[in-house]
Amino acid sequence: MTLERIRTIVVDDHDELGRLVARRIADLIQSRNAAGKPTVLGLATGSTPLGVYRELIRMHREENLSFSGVVTFNLDEYYPMDPGSIHSYHRFMWENLFAEIDIHPDNVHIPSGDVPRDCIAEECERYEQTIRAAGGIDLQLLGIGRTGHIGFNEPGSGADSRTRLVILDLVTRKDTAADFFGEDNVPREALTMGVRTILEAREVVILATGEHKADIVRRAVEGEVDHEVAATFLQQHPNTIFFLDLSAAAALTRIATPWLIGTAEWTPSLVVRAVVWLSQQTGKAILKLTQRDYAEHRLSSLVARYGSPGALNGEVFNALGAKIRGRSKLPRDARIICFSPHPDDDIISMGGVLHKLAVNGNQITVAYMTSGNLAVFDHDVRRHLDFLGRLAAEGHIPAAPAAELQRRINDVLAHKRPGDVDASEVQDAKRLIRESEAVAGIRTLGLAEHAARFLDLPFYQTGKVRKDPIGPADVAIVHQLLDEIKPELIFVAGDLSDPHGTHRVCKQAITQALETYVAAGGQRPEVWLYRGAWQEWPVTEATWLVPLSQEELRLKIQAIFKHQSQKDTAPFPGPDEREFWQRVEARNKGTAAELDRLGLAEYFAMEAYVVES
Ligand code: F6R
Repeated sequence: MTLERIRTIVVDDHDELGRLVARRIADLIQSRNAAGKPTVLGLATGSTPLGVYRELIRMHREENLSFSGVVTFNLDEYYPMDPGSIHSYHRFMWENLFAEIDIHPDNVHIPSGDVPRDCIAEECERYEQTIRAAGGIDLQLLGIGRTGHIGFNEPGSGADSRTRLVILDLVTRKDTAADFFGEDNVPREALTMGVRTILEAREVVILATGEHKADIVRRAVEGEVDHEVAATFLQQHPNTIFFLDLSAAAALTRIATPWLIGTAEWTPSLVVRAVVWLSQQTGKAILKLTQRDYAEHRLSSLVARYGSPGALNGEVFNALGAKIRGRSKLPRDARIICFSPHPDDDIISMGGVLHKLAVNGNQITVAYMTSGNLAVFDHDVRRHLDFLGRLAAEGHIPAAPAAELQRRINDVLAHKRPGDVDASEVQDAKRLIRESEAVAGIRTLGLAEHAARFLDLPFYQTGKVRKDPIGPADVAIVHQLLDEIKPELIFVAGDLSDPHGTHRVCKQAITQALETYVAAGGQRPEVWLYRGAWQEWPVTEATWLVPLSQEELRLKIQAIFKHQSQKDTAPFPGPDEREFWQRVEARNKGTAAELDRLGLAEYFAMEAYVVES
C-alpha cells in the first residue's frame, strides 16, 4: 500500500541526487543528439538544482557531453529585474551553468524582467509562443518552495495558468531574503511560467533537499490536488518523478510512520520511533501504553514480537534513558575540536556541552570555518568605527590613521546600493567584528581566548550569498588542523537545511579532510553531529541527550548575547522570526519537556547529539 500520488525516488544526499538527475538529462540529450534532434530543457534556479548543474558541467568537460543541440527555457525571473544584476536569474544561470558549457546563447530563453510594465502581457505571450515554436519542453526541471510553489506559481495559481506576472508570497520573500541581504530588498513580483505551461512538458523532474522541505513534500506527494499547493498539480502529470534526499523525504508516511501502511521493517531505532509516536498520539507516558493503545494504532504486530506491551514499553523506556549523559559521563582531558560553520553556531547549538567540556578540563579548539561577514549590518561597522574615532579623539590611538580609515569606509558605505557586494576593506571589518564576538562568546563559557581558530575557508570568500563549491584548498586547511590537534572527538554541524547551504558545504570539507587525514595515518576521531540554529535532533534520533541546568542554559544565552551583530534583527533570520537565543531556549527546554512527557526524568533543558557511525 502506498499513499504517494507521484512517483518518488529517495536518495542519500544532495550530491547523489545531483548525479542521478544529471545522468537522466545527459541520457536524454545524447539520445536526441544521436537522432539529430534538439533537446528542449525547462530549467530552474534556486539552491536545489546547483548540484545537477555542477555535474552537467563536469560531464561536458570530462565526458564530452555537448549542449550544442540544447534549447533551454527558464521558469521565471523577478520583476522588475535588470539582467545584469547579481540577483537576476539571467546572471544566476550564466554563472552556474551556461558560461561553462557549449550552449548557443540564442538557444537560451529566460523571461525578461526588464520589459516596461505595459509590455508584460506581450512578453509572456511571446515566451509561450517561443516554447511552442521549439516543439514544447522535453524535460522540465523543478524545485519546490515552502509554499508548494513550482516556478513562482504561488498558492491560488490555477491549473490552467500560463506565463504571467505574479505577486510573490510572503513566505517566498522571507526564504529569499538572504540572497537579497534583507527581506525589504526582495522584489514583490515575478514573471513565471504557469502551471499549464509546466504540465505540458513531456517529462517533469522535481527535486527537494533538506529538512525544511519535508512537510511541503509530503503535502505535494500524499495530499489532495489543490490550487493552494501548485506542486499537487503534478499528480495529474503522467510522467513526473520526485527526487528527494533523505531529509526532504522524512515526513513521507513510508519513512515517518511505515507501520501505518503495513511496510515496517522493525529495526531497533524504528521500534523506538513507533513507541514514541504512539505515546504522542495517545498523550500517555511510555510505561502506561496498553495492548489496546497498540491495537488501535495498527501496532499489535509489534507487541507480538515482544510478547507483551510491558516488555516493549520497558525496552524503549530503557533505550531512551540510556541516551542521557550528564557531565560525569562526558569526556575528560581529551583533545577536542568543535567545528563551527559560522561564528555563533558553536554557542547556539552546543554552548551547554562546550561549557561542560571546559569544566572537565578538556583541550578544546573551536574552529570557525567561515567569517560570517555577510551577516553583519553596515550600521554595525559604522558603530565600531565611531568607537575607534572616540579612542583617537581622546589620544589613546594615533588620530590620523583612525580618521582616514573612518573616512574611507564611511565613504564606501555611503555609496553602496542595497544588495551590492561589500568592498574588501568592509568585508574585513565585518569579519573582525564577528571574530571579536566569537572570542567573547567562548570566554563566557569558560574557554580561553586562544581556543578560537579562524579558518576563513576560501569557498566562502565570494562576498556573495552564493558560495563556491568546496575545493582542495578548503580541505587542506581542515586537514592541517586535524594534523595539528590530533583530536579524539570532533563536533560537526549536522543541520543540513540552513538557508544558504554553508553548513552542508562545511560538513563536506570536514568529511573529505577526515578521509585524507586517516589515509595519511591519522587516528579517526569520534564525530558528534549537532543541530541547533534551525532545528533540533528529535529524542528518537539523538544518540546522546545532555541535560542542562537552569544556570547552564542562562550562561549559554549570555554567550549568545555576545554575538551582538546577530542579536537585533539578524539579516538572515529565515522563516522563524524569533531571535536565536529564544529559539535555543525553546528547543533545549522542549527536548527536556518531551522526555518528561514520555515519562522519563524531568530535566530543566537538554542538548541533543547524534554520533556519526
Ligand atoms: C526557481 C523557482 C522556484 C524554486 C523554489 C525552490 O527558478 O522557480 O520554484 O525552485 O523556490 O528554491 P530552492 O531550490 O532555493 O529551495
